[in-house]
Amino acid sequence: MNPYIGIFYGSDTGCTEEVTHELVEYWESGEVKVIECNQLTKADFKEFDFLILGLSTWYDGDLQSDWEDFFDDFKTIDFTGKTVAIYGLGDQIGYGEYFVDGIGILAEEILNNGGHIIGEWSTKGYDFSESKALKNKDFFYGLALDEDNESDLTANRLETWVTAIKKEIEEIKDKNLVKA
Ligand SMILES: Cc1cc2nc3c(=O)[nH]c(=O)nc-3n(C[C@H](O)[C@H](O)[C@H](O)COP(=O)(O)O)c2cc1C
Repeated sequence: MNPYIGIFYGSDTGCTEEVTHELVEYWESGEVKVIECNQLTKADFKEFDFLILGLSTWYDGDLQSDWEDFFDDFKTIDFTGKTVAIYGLGDQIGYGEYFVDGIGILAEEILNNGGHIIGEWSTKGYDFSESKALKNKDFFYGLALDEDNESDLTANRLETWVTAIKKEIEEIKDKNLVKA
């Protein structure tokens, strides 16, 4: 099977990388291609209709450094016809005014450039004051993980989220088959 999902992630101190390893376990090896953000080119985005993007947030609401370096290119990607899920790591206690902002920064560009975002995630149970990742007051654009304060919740959160996005991906694949 040719990989049909691109998992692209960036990580400064290894936390997002570890979560990415856990995430990959949920797919057959032939289904996904994993690329670290510091190796990414725009062409990699062309290859996949389904993308899962992972990143942490740094320095009061900034993108993880590799995503920051890639961001000018990222803003020019045409996401028309693409389905994107985002997972983000942050620290709701230490950086509660900027919690997982990176999710929202990527989401805004994806939506501006025609993409469809799946995998919204409830804000219930988190304790933060502000976040650019908010789709509305009840949901983040993607999965919010907090390895600094709630690492014990990560495995369950990830499993619940992956189950949900798998369902959404299957529904979109089915719909596209019917269209074709
Ligand atoms: C200096 C510093 C700045 C940070 N800034 C933010 C921030 O603005 N928002 C946030 O949610 N988390 C922030 N964090 C928390 C990181 O995103 C978190 O530790 C994450 O797990 C790191 O993941 P990585 O190792 O994959 O880069 C910050 C952490 C440090 C050490």
